[in-house]
Amino acid sequence: PASEAKAMMEAHALLKRFYHHLLVHTKEGQAALDALQARGWTMDTIERFEIGYAPDVPDAAAKLLESRAFSLVLMEKAGLLLKREDGRYVDRFRNRVMFPIHDHRGATVGFSGRSLGEGQPKYINSPETPIFRKGTLFYFFHEARVPIRKRQEALLVEGFADVISAVQAGVDYVVAAMGTSLTEEQARLLRRHAETVTICYDGDRAGMDAAWRAAEQLSALGCQIKVASLPDGLDPDEYIRVYGADRFVGEIAAARPLMAFKLERLRHGKNLQEEGDRLRYIEEALREISKLSSPVEKDYYVRQLAEEFSLSLSALYEQLSHHKREQP
Ligand code: CTP
Ligand code: MN
Ligand code: MN
Ligand code: MN
Ligand code: MN
Repeated sequence: PASEAKAMMEAHALLKRFYHHLLVHTKEGQAALDALQARGWTMDTIERFEIGYAPDVPDAAAKLLESRAFSLVLMEKAGLLLKREDGRYVDRFRNRVMFPIHDHRGATVGFSGRSLGEGQPKYINSPETPIFRKGTLFYFFHEARVPIRKRQEALLVEGFADVISAVQAGVDYVVAAMGTSLTEEQARLLRRHAETVTICYDGDRAGMDAAWRAAEQLSALGCQIKVASLPDGLDPDEYIRVYGADRFVGEIAAARPLMAFKLERLRHGKNLQEEGDRLRYIEEALREISKLSSPVEKDYYVRQLAEEFSLSLSALYEQLSHHKREQP
């Protein structure tokens, strides 16, 4: 019911302030605050994202919620508390840096808690609840929506830290899908707000593969896709720390069209001097080219292949005709 959802949101808002206060103003939060600043995040950034710290206590949130007359049964449903076997309620999040997650109207509906240092699991997220449905949300969308609309462009990254560092670097049209692959609903949401989506996932293998999948999904909905691939397996947050904001903005501006990204991925690990690999590359490239809807674009890439491998256009077009416009 609506009143339960409202109470859940109020509880999240209360805990957001509580965790933020602990991070910024107390001794308990000092180590976490030091760690965030060592990552290069300024106090302004920490305030803007309302980052917090959940203390290393079993029931700090439970006690606070109880003292404010929240139903603990409901708070368990809201994902904030866990019910132990002995019937007592304890906090879900303990000794973690807390990232509040907002819905599109700016209500606080979930948290992600990051371990300090290398503790596993790295992130604990709120479970699916009546107010938190991960597959319908992007991290930071409530703030990025206006800049995204204005530019008709969204920058899509993998994680919380990537969004935060991008914003600190001056790129505010950025959102993250929070580590899962894009749902249809998320893809449609982005499409409704932006003509162009620039994907800048982590520069590792998993990130590149995920970028390819996200690109296929979004381009099937009619988004223009550009892909920025970062060197040495870095993610945007790490890249910004190593190379600075200006070079990051440069990487985003230099993002390439989807086909250029795909062709480079297809080349990867092949030796094009070797006949078998070369033929496989040409075949795979044609397969991707066949998915393009624009005849001009198709022609552009077919000619590029023809030139690079000294092939006749007619042979390439004949081969291309064997692929019906395959849907991605
Ligand atoms: N993620 C998650 N649970 C995990 C690991 C990852 O929910 N155990 C999600 C988080 O949203 C995370 C994103 O996947 O931000 C990307 O994962 P990863 O690249 O591993 O984390 P980073 O964002 O790089 O985290 P950090 O920089 O803090 O190490
Ligand atoms: Mn504050
Ligand atoms: Mn990653
Ligand atoms: Mn990462
Ligand atoms: Mn990272």
